[in-house]
Amino acid sequence: MTRDELLAILWENADTYISGAQLARRLSVSRTAVWKQIEQLRGEGYLIESVTNKGYRLSSRSDVLSAAGIERYLEHPNIRVQVRRSVSSTITVLKEQAEAGAPEGTALVAEEQTKGRGRMGRSFYSPPGTGVYLSLLLRPDTAAAEAVALTACAAVAVAESVESLSGRPAQIKWVNDVLLDGKKICGILTEASVDFESGMLHYAVVGIGINVLIPPGGFPPELQDRAGAVFGTNGGPALRCRMAAAVLDRLMGYYERLGEKTYYEGYKQRSVVLGRPILLLTPGHDPVPAQALDIDRDFALVVRLADGTIRHVNSGEVSIRRAE
Ligand code: BTN
Repeated sequence: MTRDELLAILWENADTYISGAQLARRLSVSRTAVWKQIEQLRGEGYLIESVTNKGYRLSSRSDVLSAAGIERYLEHPNIRVQVRRSVSSTITVLKEQAEAGAPEGTALVAEEQTKGRGRMGRSFYSPPGTGVYLSLLLRPDTAAAEAVALTACAAVAVAESVESLSGRPAQIKWVNDVLLDGKKICGILTEASVDFESGMLHYAVVGIGINVLIPPGGFPPELQDRAGAVFGTNGGPALRCRMAAAVLDRLMGYYERLGEKTYYEGYKQRSVVLGRPILLLTPGHDPVPAQALDIDRDFALVVRLADGTIRHVNSGEVSIRRAE
Protein backbone atom coordinates (compact mmCIF):
# COMPACT_ATOMS: atom_id res chain seq x y z
CA MET A 1 0.00 0.00 0.00
CA THR A 2 1.34 3.41 -0.78
CA ARG A 3 0.49 6.43 1.26
CA ASP A 4 -0.87 8.03 -1.90
CA GLU A 5 -3.27 5.14 -2.54
CA LEU A 6 -4.66 5.47 0.96
CA LEU A 7 -4.95 9.23 0.60
CA ALA A 8 -6.67 8.85 -2.75
CA ILE A 9 -9.38 6.60 -1.21
CA LEU A 10 -9.76 8.92 1.75
CA TRP A 11 -10.18 11.84 -0.64
CA GLU A 12 -12.74 9.92 -2.75
CA ASN A 13 -14.72 9.60 0.48
CA ALA A 14 -13.86 12.98 1.93
CA ASP A 15 -16.16 14.05 4.77
CA THR A 16 -17.73 10.59 5.00
CA TYR A 17 -16.65 7.61 7.03
CA ILE A 18 -15.01 4.62 5.46
CA SER A 19 -14.33 1.58 7.60
CA GLY A 20 -10.87 0.32 8.41
CA ALA A 21 -11.91 -3.10 7.07
CA GLN A 22 -12.94 -1.62 3.74
CA LEU A 23 -9.71 0.34 3.45
CA ALA A 24 -7.68 -2.73 4.34
CA ARG A 25 -9.52 -4.76 1.71
CA ARG A 26 -9.10 -2.20 -1.05
CA LEU A 27 -5.42 -1.80 -0.29
CA SER A 28 -4.75 -5.48 0.39
CA VAL A 29 -3.13 -4.80 3.76
CA SER A 30 -4.00 -5.39 7.41
CA ARG A 31 -6.17 -3.00 9.41
CA THR A 32 -3.16 -2.33 11.62
CA ALA A 33 -1.16 -1.23 8.59
CA VAL A 34 -3.99 1.13 7.65
CA TRP A 35 -4.10 2.52 11.17
CA LYS A 36 -0.32 3.11 11.19
CA GLN A 37 -0.45 4.95 7.89
CA ILE A 38 -3.39 7.03 9.14
CA GLU A 39 -1.33 8.03 12.17
CA GLN A 40 1.45 9.13 9.88
CA LEU A 41 -0.94 11.24 7.82
CA ARG A 42 -2.28 12.82 10.98
CA GLY A 43 1.29 13.63 11.94
CA GLU A 44 1.58 15.50 8.67
CA GLY A 45 -1.47 17.53 9.64
CA TYR A 46 -4.27 15.76 7.80
CA LEU A 47 -7.56 16.03 9.63
CA ILE A 48 -8.69 12.42 9.95
CA GLU A 49 -11.31 11.48 12.49
CA SER A 50 -11.85 7.92 13.62
CA VAL A 51 -14.98 6.55 15.25
CA THR A 52 -15.45 2.98 16.45
CA ASN A 53 -17.70 0.98 14.11
CA LYS A 54 -17.66 3.75 11.51
CA GLY A 55 -14.03 4.01 10.52
CA TYR A 56 -12.03 6.98 9.28
CA ARG A 57 -13.15 10.30 7.88
CA LEU A 58 -10.85 12.74 6.13
CA SER A 59 -11.97 16.34 6.29
CA SER A 60 -11.96 18.07 2.92
CA ARG A 61 -10.33 21.01 4.67
CA SER A 62 -7.18 18.92 5.05
CA ASP A 63 -5.14 20.80 2.54
CA VAL A 64 -2.33 21.02 5.00
CA LEU A 65 0.98 22.73 4.46
CA SER A 66 3.81 20.72 5.91
CA ALA A 67 7.51 20.44 5.18
CA ALA A 68 7.09 16.71 4.55
CA GLY A 69 4.09 17.38 2.33
CA ILE A 70 5.95 19.93 0.22
CA GLU A 71 9.16 17.94 0.05
CA ARG A 72 7.17 14.99 -1.24
CA TYR A 73 6.48 16.87 -4.43
CA LEU A 74 9.75 18.78 -4.58
CA GLU A 75 12.30 17.64 -7.13
CA HIS A 76 15.11 20.13 -6.66
CA PRO A 77 17.77 18.75 -4.31
CA ASN A 78 18.98 22.10 -2.95
CA ILE A 79 15.83 23.48 -1.38
CA ARG A 80 15.32 23.19 2.37
CA VAL A 81 11.73 23.82 3.39
CA GLN A 82 10.49 25.12 6.72
CA VAL A 83 6.79 25.51 7.37
CA ARG A 84 5.30 27.73 10.09
CA ARG A 85 1.68 28.04 11.13
CA SER A 86 1.83 31.78 11.56
CA VAL A 87 4.57 34.35 11.02
CA SER A 88 4.61 38.11 10.69
CA SER A 89 5.94 37.92 7.13
CA THR A 90 7.98 35.14 5.55
CA ILE A 91 10.21 37.79 3.94
CA THR A 92 10.95 39.49 7.25
CA VAL A 93 11.70 36.22 9.03
CA LEU A 94 13.78 34.77 6.19
CA LYS A 95 15.83 37.95 5.98
CA GLU A 96 16.72 37.48 9.65
CA GLN A 97 17.82 33.94 8.83
CA ALA A 98 19.82 35.23 5.86
CA GLU A 99 21.63 37.71 8.11
CA ALA A 100 22.41 34.81 10.45
CA GLY A 101 24.00 32.88 7.58
CA ALA A 102 21.22 30.61 6.30
CA PRO A 103 22.22 28.97 3.02
CA GLU A 104 20.86 29.61 -0.44
CA GLY A 105 17.80 27.49 -1.09
CA THR A 106 16.29 28.03 2.36
CA ALA A 107 12.54 28.35 1.89
CA LEU A 108 10.04 29.52 4.45
CA VAL A 109 6.38 28.75 3.90
CA ALA A 110 3.57 29.93 6.18
CA GLU A 111 -0.07 28.99 6.65
CA GLU A 112 -0.77 32.56 7.69
CA GLN A 113 1.01 35.91 7.81
CA THR A 114 -0.03 38.50 10.35
CA LYS A 115 1.93 41.28 8.65
CA GLY A 116 2.13 40.12 5.05
CA ARG A 117 3.90 42.76 3.01
CA GLY A 118 3.14 43.92 -0.52
CA ARG A 119 4.80 46.33 -2.91
CA MET A 120 4.89 50.07 -2.32
CA GLY A 121 4.50 49.63 1.44
CA ARG A 122 1.11 47.97 1.09
CA SER A 123 0.00 44.97 3.13
CA PHE A 124 -0.70 41.57 1.61
CA TYR A 125 -3.84 39.79 2.77
CA SER A 126 -2.61 36.41 4.08
CA PRO A 127 -5.39 34.48 5.86
CA PRO A 128 -4.77 30.89 7.06
CA GLY A 129 -5.84 27.77 5.21
CA THR A 130 -6.28 29.12 1.71
CA GLY A 131 -3.01 30.56 0.45
CA VAL A 132 0.64 29.75 -0.02
CA TYR A 133 2.89 32.45 1.40
CA LEU A 134 6.48 31.55 0.73
CA SER A 135 9.89 33.12 0.54
CA LEU A 136 13.06 31.71 -0.95
CA LEU A 137 16.56 32.82 -0.01
CA LEU A 138 19.01 33.20 -2.89
CA ARG A 139 22.61 34.31 -2.89
CA PRO A 140 23.23 35.22 -6.51
CA ASP A 141 26.53 36.43 -7.78
CA THR A 142 24.91 39.34 -9.59
CA ALA A 143 24.65 43.07 -9.49
CA ALA A 144 21.66 44.54 -7.67
CA ALA A 145 20.40 45.96 -10.97
CA GLU A 146 19.78 42.41 -12.17
CA ALA A 147 17.56 41.53 -9.21
CA VAL A 148 14.51 42.43 -11.27
CA ALA A 149 15.14 39.24 -13.24
CA LEU A 150 14.50 37.27 -10.03
CA THR A 151 11.03 38.74 -9.75
CA ALA A 152 10.36 38.13 -13.43
CA CYS A 153 11.40 34.49 -13.31
CA ALA A 154 9.33 34.04 -10.14
CA ALA A 155 6.29 35.36 -12.01
CA VAL A 156 6.86 32.84 -14.80
CA ALA A 157 7.45 30.04 -12.27
CA VAL A 158 4.12 30.85 -10.61
CA ALA A 159 2.23 31.21 -13.91
CA GLU A 160 3.50 27.83 -15.11
CA SER A 161 2.72 26.12 -11.80
CA VAL A 162 -0.78 27.57 -11.72
CA GLU A 163 -1.36 26.45 -15.30
CA SER A 164 -0.13 22.93 -14.68
CA LEU A 165 -2.24 22.50 -11.53
CA SER A 166 -5.40 24.23 -12.72
CA GLY A 167 -5.25 23.70 -16.48
CA ARG A 168 -6.13 27.37 -16.99
CA PRO A 169 -3.99 29.98 -18.73
CA ALA A 170 -2.36 32.53 -16.42
CA GLN A 171 -1.38 36.07 -17.33
CA ILE A 172 1.34 38.32 -15.98
CA LYS A 173 0.70 41.98 -15.31
CA TRP A 174 3.91 43.95 -15.38
CA VAL A 175 5.82 43.86 -13.31
CA ASN A 176 4.99 40.97 -11.06
CA ASP A 177 1.30 40.18 -10.59
CA VAL A 178 -0.02 36.85 -11.80
CA LEU A 179 -3.65 36.86 -12.94
CA LEU A 180 -6.30 34.29 -13.82
CA ASP A 181 -9.30 35.58 -15.78
CA GLY A 182 -8.16 39.12 -15.10
CA LYS A 183 -8.08 38.71 -11.30
CA LYS A 184 -4.88 38.87 -9.28
CA ILE A 185 -4.10 35.50 -7.76
CA CYS A 186 -0.47 36.13 -6.84
CA GLY A 187 1.80 38.96 -5.80
CA ILE A 188 5.59 38.87 -5.69
CA LEU A 189 7.96 41.02 -3.70
CA THR A 190 11.72 40.64 -3.89
CA GLU A 191 13.91 42.26 -1.26
CA ALA A 192 17.68 42.27 -1.32
CA SER A 193 20.68 43.23 0.72
CA VAL A 194 23.22 45.04 -1.39
CA ASP A 195 26.92 45.74 -0.95
CA PHE A 196 27.10 49.47 -1.65
CA GLU A 197 30.80 49.35 -2.55
CA SER A 198 30.47 46.78 -5.32
CA GLY A 199 26.77 47.09 -6.12
CA MET A 200 26.57 43.29 -5.80
CA LEU A 201 23.88 41.41 -3.91
CA HIS A 202 24.63 39.88 -0.51
CA TYR A 203 21.40 37.98 -0.83
CA ALA A 204 17.88 38.27 -2.17
CA VAL A 205 14.64 37.00 -0.71
CA VAL A 206 11.91 36.34 -3.25
CA GLY A 207 8.50 36.48 -1.56
CA ILE A 208 5.50 34.96 -3.28
CA GLY A 209 1.89 35.01 -2.11
CA ILE A 210 -0.64 32.87 -3.97
CA ASN A 211 -4.37 32.77 -3.30
CA VAL A 212 -4.92 29.07 -3.94
CA LEU A 213 -8.50 29.00 -2.60
CA ILE A 214 -11.12 31.63 -1.94
CA PRO A 215 -11.15 32.37 1.81
CA PRO A 216 -14.31 31.00 3.52
CA GLY A 217 -15.82 34.47 4.00
CA GLY A 218 -14.61 35.68 0.61
CA PHE A 219 -11.98 38.40 0.07
CA PRO A 220 -12.31 41.61 2.09
CA PRO A 221 -14.49 44.22 0.34
CA GLU A 222 -11.51 46.35 -0.74
CA LEU A 223 -9.99 43.38 -2.61
CA GLN A 224 -13.15 41.82 -4.01
CA ASP A 225 -12.97 43.51 -7.41
CA ARG A 226 -9.35 42.69 -8.10
CA ALA A 227 -8.42 39.53 -6.17
CA GLY A 228 -9.14 35.99 -7.25
CA ALA A 229 -7.99 32.49 -6.41
CA VAL A 230 -6.64 29.62 -8.47
CA PHE A 231 -9.46 27.33 -7.32
CA GLY A 232 -12.85 27.88 -5.67
CA THR A 233 -13.59 27.34 -2.01
CA ASN A 234 -12.65 23.65 -1.90
CA GLY A 235 -9.18 22.28 -2.15
CA GLY A 236 -7.93 18.94 -3.27
CA PRO A 237 -5.34 16.55 -2.03
CA ALA A 238 -2.29 18.45 -0.84
CA LEU A 239 -3.10 21.18 -3.31
CA ARG A 240 -1.18 23.89 -1.54
CA CYS A 241 1.82 21.61 -0.88
CA ARG A 242 1.92 20.81 -4.58
CA MET A 243 1.64 24.46 -5.47
CA ALA A 244 4.48 25.41 -3.14
CA ALA A 245 6.69 22.60 -4.47
CA ALA A 246 5.93 23.40 -8.11
CA VAL A 247 6.73 27.08 -7.67
CA LEU A 248 9.95 26.44 -5.73
CA ASP A 249 11.17 23.85 -8.24
CA ARG A 250 10.55 26.07 -11.24
CA LEU A 251 11.92 29.18 -9.59
CA MET A 252 15.12 27.39 -8.58
CA GLY A 253 15.43 25.94 -12.08
CA TYR A 254 15.21 29.38 -13.70
CA TYR A 255 17.44 30.92 -11.05
CA GLU A 256 20.24 28.48 -11.76
CA ARG A 257 20.36 29.80 -15.31
CA LEU A 258 19.29 33.33 -14.51
CA GLY A 259 21.53 35.00 -17.08
CA GLU A 260 20.18 32.88 -19.95
CA LYS A 261 16.75 34.42 -19.43
CA THR A 262 14.99 31.29 -20.63
CA TYR A 263 11.91 32.68 -18.87
CA TYR A 264 11.83 35.87 -20.94
CA GLU A 265 9.55 34.54 -23.70
CA GLY A 266 7.23 32.93 -21.14
CA TYR A 267 6.99 36.26 -19.38
CA LYS A 268 6.27 38.25 -22.50
CA GLN A 269 3.76 35.79 -23.95
CA ARG A 270 1.66 36.00 -20.81
CA SER A 271 1.74 39.76 -20.54
CA VAL A 272 -1.68 41.38 -20.22
CA VAL A 273 -0.41 44.89 -20.82
CA LEU A 274 1.28 44.63 -24.20
CA GLY A 275 -0.50 46.50 -26.97
CA ARG A 276 -2.86 48.17 -24.55
CA PRO A 277 -3.43 51.70 -23.30
CA ILE A 278 -2.20 51.96 -19.73
CA LEU A 279 -1.60 54.42 -16.93
CA LEU A 280 1.89 54.56 -15.45
CA LEU A 281 1.63 54.85 -11.69
CA THR A 282 4.57 56.18 -9.71
CA PRO A 283 4.13 57.07 -6.02
CA GLY A 284 3.97 60.83 -5.56
CA HIS A 285 3.28 61.52 -9.24
CA ASP A 286 0.13 61.90 -11.34
CA PRO A 287 -0.75 58.85 -13.46
CA VAL A 288 0.75 59.11 -16.94
CA PRO A 289 -1.23 57.73 -19.89
CA ALA A 290 0.83 55.63 -22.29
CA GLN A 291 0.67 52.75 -24.76
CA ALA A 292 2.49 49.55 -23.69
CA LEU A 293 4.60 48.43 -26.64
CA ASP A 294 7.07 45.84 -25.44
CA ILE A 295 9.02 44.38 -22.53
CA ASP A 296 12.77 44.53 -23.04
CA ARG A 297 15.22 41.85 -21.95
CA ASP A 298 15.83 43.71 -18.69
CA PHE A 299 12.09 43.48 -18.02
CA ALA A 300 11.59 47.21 -18.43
CA LEU A 301 8.23 48.12 -19.94
CA VAL A 302 8.64 49.91 -23.25
CA VAL A 303 5.92 52.55 -23.60
CA ARG A 304 4.90 55.33 -25.98
CA LEU A 305 3.80 58.48 -24.18
CA ALA A 306 1.09 60.81 -25.48
CA ASP A 307 3.70 63.07 -27.14
CA GLY A 308 5.17 60.11 -29.01
CA THR A 309 8.27 59.71 -26.81
CA ILE A 310 9.39 56.13 -26.21
CA ARG A 311 10.44 55.26 -22.66
CA HIS A 312 11.81 52.14 -20.97
CA VAL A 313 10.14 52.11 -17.55
CA ASN A 314 11.75 49.96 -14.89
CA SER A 315 9.94 50.86 -11.73
CA GLY A 316 6.43 51.66 -10.59
CA GLU A 317 3.21 49.96 -11.56
CA VAL A 318 0.68 50.12 -14.34
CA SER A 319 -3.06 50.13 -14.49
CA ILE A 320 -4.79 49.05 -17.67
CA ARG A 321 -6.97 51.83 -19.07
CA ARG A 322 -10.40 50.93 -20.27
CA ALA A 323 -10.68 51.06 -24.05
CA GLU A 324 -11.76 54.55 -25.02
C1 BTN B 1 2.31 42.58 -4.02
O1 BTN B 1 1.49 42.10 -4.78
O2 BTN B 1 2.26 43.78 -3.67
C2 BTN B 1 3.41 41.70 -3.50
C3 BTN B 1 2.88 40.72 -2.49
C4 BTN B 1 3.93 39.74 -1.97
C5 BTN B 1 3.34 38.82 -0.92
C6 BTN B 1 4.29 37.76 -0.48
S1 BTN B 1 3.53 36.58 0.57
C7 BTN B 1 5.07 35.89 0.99
C8 BTN B 1 6.02 37.06 1.16
N1 BTN B 1 5.95 37.60 2.49
C9 BTN B 1 5.45 38.84 2.52
O3 BTN B 1 5.28 39.51 3.55
N2 BTN B 1 5.18 39.25 1.28
C10 BTN B 1 5.50 38.23 0.30
